[in-house]
Amino acid sequence: MQILQNGGNAVDAAVAVGYALAVTNPCCGNIGGGGFMLIHLANGKDTFINFREKAPLAATQNMYLDKQGKVISGLSTKGYLAVGVPGTVMGLDKALAEYGTMTRVQVMAPAIKLASGGFGLQQGDVDILNTGTKKFKTQPNVASIFLKNGKSYQVGDRLVQKNLAQTLQLISSLGTNAFYKGAITQKIVKASQENGGILTSADFANYTITRTQPIGCNYRGYEVISAPPPGGSITLCQMLNILEGYPLKQLGLRSKASLHLTLSAMLYAYRDRNTYLGDPDFVKNPVERLLSKDYAAQIRQKIPKLCATPSKDLYSITSHEGTNTTHYSVLDRYGNAVAVTYTINSYFGAGVIAGNSGFFLNNEMDDFTVSLGVPNNFGLVQGSANIIQPGKRPLSSMTPTIVIKNGKVLIVTGRPGGSTIPTTVLQVLINIIDYDMNINEAVNAPRIHYQGLPNLVITEPYALKSPVVQELWEMGYRVTPFLTWGAAESIFVDPKTEALYGANDSRKSAGKAAAY
Ligand code: DON
Repeated sequence: MQILQNGGNAVDAAVAVGYALAVTNPCCGNIGGGGFMLIHLANGKDTFINFREKAPLAATQNMYLDKQGKVISGLSTKGYLAVGVPGTVMGLDKALAEYGTMTRVQVMAPAIKLASGGFGLQQGDVDILNTGTKKFKTQPNVASIFLKNGKSYQVGDRLVQKNLAQTLQLISSLGTNAFYKGAITQKIVKASQENGGILTSADFANYTITRTQPIGCNYRGYEVISAPPPGGSITLCQMLNILEGYPLKQLGLRSKASLHLTLSAMLYAYRDRNTYLGDPDFVKNPVERLLSKDYAAQIRQKIPKLCATPSKDLYSITSHEGTNTTHYSVLDRYGNAVAVTYTINSYFGAGVIAGNSGFFLNNEMDDFTVSLGVPNNFGLVQGSANIIQPGKRPLSSMTPTIVIKNGKVLIVTGRPGGSTIPTTVLQVLINIIDYDMNINEAVNAPRIHYQGLPNLVITEPYALKSPVVQELWEMGYRVTPFLTWGAAESIFVDPKTEALYGANDSRKSAGKAAAY
């Protein structure tokens, strides 16, 4: 807000928030990971900045398998072998240079101050830090920052991060070279080499972001723009295209009929995601076909009447962490909108900090198809388009999204939560467009998710009335409760009054909606 008040635009503010969250939300906000920034400028121009991590150049398809071809548990999620080459610093810097109006020094100053001077921990912060206490204890350089004399921090304590302040100061003064061709690179490469990793300075020197057009769709007259592969827009738009053919509103919110159609749309969209999609620099994604309205109509033909499409395998979801990424939405007085989702994947990523660099490194390598037919941390069973290759980016579910109506920004949204991201963005959009909810209701309404494999419909408490749950079981769906869902921090612009409404998702106690 300070950046906007000082005359900055939404991109300046988004970059400042990106760095500030790397300090105040160390589980998830980051400089050690990657993500996507979706920009809609007031002049109508749209851009998608893809700063997703890349596999190290020494990565191989079978690097997480033993001699028998079995996945070695934990190798793609913990420690240096799990780390993809981070993209956040490059992404934020390029966004600022191209679309911002302020200097790097200006937008990074608040983050550096928060790191060096510290900030007071609230309950939400402490709850998140507590989930890492065991991990922190095993490494002295981590424990010295995130534990207080070996014990968990308490509400009201200040978290001071001197090492991170120094790292941010280096980036602020020297730019991306500090991170990709300098002192920070050396620290990460050294720690990786000493701890079984494969990162080299060439990985950092060769890291690039991409800047492309977003991919979108038109849903009932609303223009939806979102994150192209490796992001989640195709999955989101496939679900919207399928559902557009049904009178959702008349069928009723979470009625047996509307649920069956919504779950079927999810099932087909995830099947296609897991079958066809991968890093567009490496594989040809059949974007046009998957996004065509004809294809959606063909899928509608296949959806049986009030009966679940059989999904063969039944196994339980392996992850119960649903909030380990960060999404934020920014809108400025000029009408520029920015949606950013960025991540180190799991809470505190790979759980490691290189030397005295002060920040956690990601475990994004787990988003690749580690082995065909084997589910990843989010239960996603992915295909050969997403196998590990040197320099490739793993497929992501992150779906920062902007909705435009009559040429004006209507909604800015997105969320963390791994595979449940596209289905949540879907629900936020249909809650508003079909079910007339305001942004707060739409964001905070209980959610459901279905990805076919595992064959479980997961539901948030109070999402479904018990008779409907029974009806779903009778149709062949396997319904189970799920507790942790990510925060869809969103903005809505009233088309009549142009008033801005910010929605803080109450699922995450450390979030906030703010304006001036
Ligand atoms: O890019 C992805 O799809 C995941 N690495 C995002 C991880 C995430 O949202 C964590 N929250 N559960």
